Amino acid sequence: MLEAPRVQDGIDQRIGEYAARKAALEAADRYFYLQPTVGKTNHTVQMKDGREMVQLASYSYLGLIGHPRIEAAAIEAIETYGTGAGGVRLLTGTTDLHERLEERIARFTKREDSCVYSSGYVTNVAIITGLTGPGDLILMDKLDHASIVDGCLLSGAKWRTYRHNDMDHLEKLLSSAAGEYGTILVVADSVFSMDGDVMDLPRTKELCERYGARLMVDEAHSIGSLGATGHGIEEHFDMIGSIDLKMGTLSKSIPSVGGYLAGDTGLIDFQRHMSRPFIFSAALPPAQTAAALAAFDVIEDEPWRVEQLHRVQSRYTDGLKAQGWNTMDSTTCVVPVLVGDEAKTMDLTRMLFDRGIFVCPIVHPAVPRGMDRLRTCLMSTHTDADIDKALAAFADSGKALGLI
Ligand SMILES: Cc1ncc(COP(=O)(O)O)c(C=O)c1O
Repeated sequence: MLEAPRVQDGIDQRIGEYAARKAALEAADRYFYLQPTVGKTNHTVQMKDGREMVQLASYSYLGLIGHPRIEAAAIEAIETYGTGAGGVRLLTGTTDLHERLEERIARFTKREDSCVYSSGYVTNVAIITGLTGPGDLILMDKLDHASIVDGCLLSGAKWRTYRHNDMDHLEKLLSSAAGEYGTILVVADSVFSMDGDVMDLPRTKELCERYGARLMVDEAHSIGSLGATGHGIEEHFDMIGSIDLKMGTLSKSIPSVGGYLAGDTGLIDFQRHMSRPFIFSAALPPAQTAAALAAFDVIEDEPWRVEQLHRVQSRYTDGLKAQGWNTMDSTTCVVPVLVGDEAKTMDLTRMLFDRGIFVCPIVHPAVPRGMDRLRTCLMSTHTDADIDKALAAFADSGKALGLI
């Protein structure tokens, strides 16, 4: 018997639209995603076809991937504990390595305790769903990371966004919410991952105190990179101890995977027993736990890395601005290069790739239309020669495309 053809549904339509967009980019030689590299990513990276490129898109801001002490710690952990934790943290997945990492993070972040999750994404979901629910209000910066949005969606709390870094708007939302909710939680990224600017911690903190709100900050892009010794946003503003819920990732300056929440003992004990991703998802593997543990030591033992990162970011950003590029309000190692047009962003990426510079195009829907850009990222291991090569490539390509 012949089967009747399946009726096309919304899933077919979504896949069809996506596939057409991808095919058009591939036909124009403008598809830059999922590029396979081989070997260890540092200030340069080797592509699968053998080309060596300057790496201008990695989150490994301190260049710690491949650090001998961190690798040795991971190898020793595999030899001692094997490759998996064998369960969830609450039941069989906790090793003494996990305990030591949590103590180390608490010391680094100057908090009583911390708990570690299997990714930064999951950490944001775990914090927000663990601590808020129906009857609560979450106010988040419009440019906060997607994992914060997803946490809000899952929590059942009411949530609203305030205009990016607009403290007057945040105050308006706080004043109209006062007395209406069980908890009000304000959430912001410390360094915004697409724009590279820094949250206004002093005013956000002042508003939270005035209106009785809790403050959660996502330090994904500031741990290791912001502050004179890389201790993050509180060091940057000289406001140690001002954040209630201090979240960070172990996948960027820390060359591992995972995320953490640091805070007071009661909060962390609660999260270890009540947050669903801690209870229902496997523990971080021993090698990654040991690598993260060693990396916090390396950051404190090798302070030149943070100093060098700050030198590299000034040299690069000043160089781009002198050529006429718009780097938005970036003051950090995340440097957007605003193009404002999707096709031209892709053309610029092609030209930079052809000149040996690995960059990532960020276009709609990741950013609003007209805000298409390259998001470039710096590392403390970038040499003057890397930066000069990148700047020369930007100058040539920008002039050829009429962008500068
Ligand atoms: C601000 C921010 N928070 C959270 C995450 C998620 O972290 P992870 O990649 O470690 O899951 C990211 C990832 O890029 C991020 O940029």
